[in-house]
Amino acid sequence: MERIDFEEGSLYRGDSLEVMEGMEPNSVDLVFGSPPYEDARTYGIGFDLKGQDWVDWMVKVFEASLRVSKGLVAFVVGHGKGARKWSLWASAKIWAWWSAVA
Ligand SMILES: C[S@@+](CC[C@H](N)C(=O)[O-])C[C@H]1O[C@@H](n2cnc3c(N)ncnc32)[C@H](O)[C@@H]1O
Repeated sequence: MERIDFEEGSLYRGDSLEVMEGMEPNSVDLVFGSPPYEDARTYGIGFDLKGQDWVDWMVKVFEASLRVSKGLVAFVVGHGKGARKWSLWASAKIWAWWSAVA
């Protein structure tokens, strides 16, 4: 994990769960994320979670985010797969994730 400190705050580069694990509860103003959608892209880091594994991971990310945030927690998640094609399966997984955390 890398950390760069600025006057206004800090920038971390690393696995989101590991980074948040090292943070105090209610210590950040906002958690805003654009997570990888299943295995649509690997981002050069071998990301390949799909199906229930993706849902389980996102539940952990959401719970960790709620722990560290003293404000809003928000994620942008696409309903697409591959070349931005709309996918009912993708929507179902997002719904499964939302049902687990809501
Ligand atoms: C949908 S993209 C978001 C891109 C971002 N909005 C941007 O404009 O650069 C998902 C990003 O999550 C990163 N990522 C994947 N697994 C991660 C993890 N476990 N912890 C933190 N970031 C992760 C990927 O490397 C990728 O940059």
